[in-house]
Amino acid sequence: MPDTLQTPPGHVRLGSNSGQPMTRRDGIAKVTGTATYAADNRPDRLAHAVFASAGIARGRVVSLNVEAAKSHPGVIEVITPDNRPALHLDPDGKSHPFSWRIEALQDNTVRYAGQPIALVVAETLEAATEGARLLAPEYDTDPARIGFENGEAYDPPAVGIGGNPSFSKGDFDTGFSDSKHRIGASVDTPAQYHNAMEPHAIVAEWSGDHLTIDTPNQAIHLARGAFAGYFGIPPENVTLRSPFIGGGFGSKAILVGPQILAIMAARMLDRPVKLVLRRDQMFGPVQHRGATRQKLRIGTDGNGLIKALEHEATASTSSFDDFIEGAGNASLNMYASPAIVARHSAVRVDTGTPGPMRAPGEASGSAALEIAMDKAAEAVGMDPLEFRLRNYAETDPASGKPFSAKSLRECYELAAQKFGWSDRPLAPGQMRDENGMLVGWGMGSALFPAPMFAAQARATLRRDGTALVETSGADMGQGAWTALAQIAADGVGLPVDRIEFLSGTTDQPDAGVAGGSGHTASAGGALFEAGSNAVQKLADLATADPESPLFGAGNTGVEAREGRLFRADDKSRSESYADILERAGLETIDAMGSGGRDPANAEARAMFSHGAVFAEVKIDPDLFQILVSRLIGAFAAGRIINPHLAKSQLTGGMIWGIGFALHEESIHDLRSGRPLNADLAGYHVPVNADAPHVEALLVDEDDPYVNALGIKGVGEIGITGSVGAIANAVWHATGKRISSYPIHIDALLS
Ligand code: MOS
Repeated sequence: MPDTLQTPPGHVRLGSNSGQPMTRRDGIAKVTGTATYAADNRPDRLAHAVFASAGIARGRVVSLNVEAAKSHPGVIEVITPDNRPALHLDPDGKSHPFSWRIEALQDNTVRYAGQPIALVVAETLEAATEGARLLAPEYDTDPARIGFENGEAYDPPAVGIGGNPSFSKGDFDTGFSDSKHRIGASVDTPAQYHNAMEPHAIVAEWSGDHLTIDTPNQAIHLARGAFAGYFGIPPENVTLRSPFIGGGFGSKAILVGPQILAIMAARMLDRPVKLVLRRDQMFGPVQHRGATRQKLRIGTDGNGLIKALEHEATASTSSFDDFIEGAGNASLNMYASPAIVARHSAVRVDTGTPGPMRAPGEASGSAALEIAMDKAAEAVGMDPLEFRLRNYAETDPASGKPFSAKSLRECYELAAQKFGWSDRPLAPGQMRDENGMLVGWGMGSALFPAPMFAAQARATLRRDGTALVETSGADMGQGAWTALAQIAADGVGLPVDRIEFLSGTTDQPDAGVAGGSGHTASAGGALFEAGSNAVQKLADLATADPESPLFGAGNTGVEAREGRLFRADDKSRSESYADILERAGLETIDAMGSGGRDPANAEARAMFSHGAVFAEVKIDPDLFQILVSRLIGAFAAGRIINPHLAKSQLTGGMIWGIGFALHEESIHDLRSGRPLNADLAGYHVPVNADAPHVEALLVDEDDPYVNALGIKGVGEIGITGSVGAIANAVWHATGKRISSYPIHIDALLS
């Protein structure tokens, strides 16, 4: 097995800043209201845009009362398919795997309810809103196709972003028919909408051929390239600023939706234009998690060893673009089985196009897999944890490769112990609390891959003993800026309070995508390397200078700490960064870094974060209201840069798991195709009372292969495992297996 790990350069101690439970660097700005979100920008001569949304799900717009809108006081312009400016690229085209169809008022076709059909620009938001209302569209309406039964089925060429739609190893049919115990499980998951606190927003301003946009974005340089392409200008002519993002969850990672309309309007009118989506406008043009219909089969021998595992998933997508929730692939890397099959099919319905939503594929897939595992354990007559340990995968079941590191056993042990799992009665319906509530305990395993994206960073050491570090990272609330500054501080060998961290705009080097739970590893690796490279340059200066106490120490014979370089073999000989720079006549010294993953390791190892989640539910025996009274998870995700923020990410994911299991669901009217609950009163997410005890435990894990710093991700894994654990706890309380999420009271009444 190749072992080509790049160890960090010897002159840097990783850990003096990393590993500390620092609070968020941007916390005070946020709680005092000085953090500027995109919609907070008000450039001079700002005009306000509001788009009119289609009130039908399929058909054509046959008339718009543009005259009425235009004659409303304050309305400046109405943009429709008839007068919209041409774009340099086809807005329906796909130029790369991260490009999706955008909303640019291409033509009068309506493909889903809520689709932008015209843009009204006015002096005030109120005038634009009223102008949009006055458009009073008339339609030619075709019947809406909503739901798996009514859509058009097809075989998707890919799932997720470039994922394989089918996988097979071994002989499932033989393995299943030879099994002593055989179970099947059917699980539906609904469409879910991201609903970040901050709706999608943009302020666009042209200055000649230079475009400045303020818009929340998870992949700043990628978005810059896309916007530049649509307007036929070089990427350097676009400045994109996204310093604060009020939640993204994937919906702000890929450029879709109507943001481009504001840029078109700004160019047409030669004025800055602001467009902010209303909450109801979030339910359509800016992605969602597609609904799934999943079927699993598991066969085991008499000892509970899995012989065959099959996971079929049908996912919904739009009529005009493809994003398939890769739910079936959640079964590929978790449990050992000699035969594994995963297959996907898709159905086109008249909604907006789905997209990546926090743990896309893994969240919905593991929600079904963990129910199937629980049913299989029940069939064998084994404790669910014992059953999972029996089928523990020592190597990656899909690829057969060794894991870069896997500490799932430790996660099971720690979380089970903390939860008190050993007291669990095997049969359901055995426990009641002091108030007579039905009590149930369930569990699920958690898994998420550890991808990395190409990222770059710059580090500049200054003569005043501080450092400037730069990368265009995106902090959507996950604490990236804090953790990244900690890594950068270790890279340059300074305490973190002497680090100036610039991020969140295209002025900095490309930090890649804040997605896939890979941002800390990707941007952090680049920052660390940039810092190390800058220190290396400084070491080169000092060790070659006869006047330096470090003279002759050689490039690797020094250590950086607290703004000084020390001879590795004689710590009494040292010199400050400031003195080295001063003697060299330099104000600053800087270097770039790109981090990344060793390709040989990437080829040889399977790289995942792991975890285990245990749930307790309490259910009213008459009303069947469900409370998740305890949710305890343990996770192993390589090196933890900031335990405080990592726990926050993990508990956030687990709370999302409560929402997935019990609350989140968008309902479309089958006749009109319109969302019925397009607001936060009707679209439920958990609040404090729904999550009284959520606890994330961290398992130390040294992963020497995943990247030089040993960092995996913590952003999405908390959802996986949690959903199934809750469903399994509901069974343990009531004896009822559920077949669709969210778990409704009526599913338990029957
Ligand atoms: Mo995410 S769905 O990787 O932003």
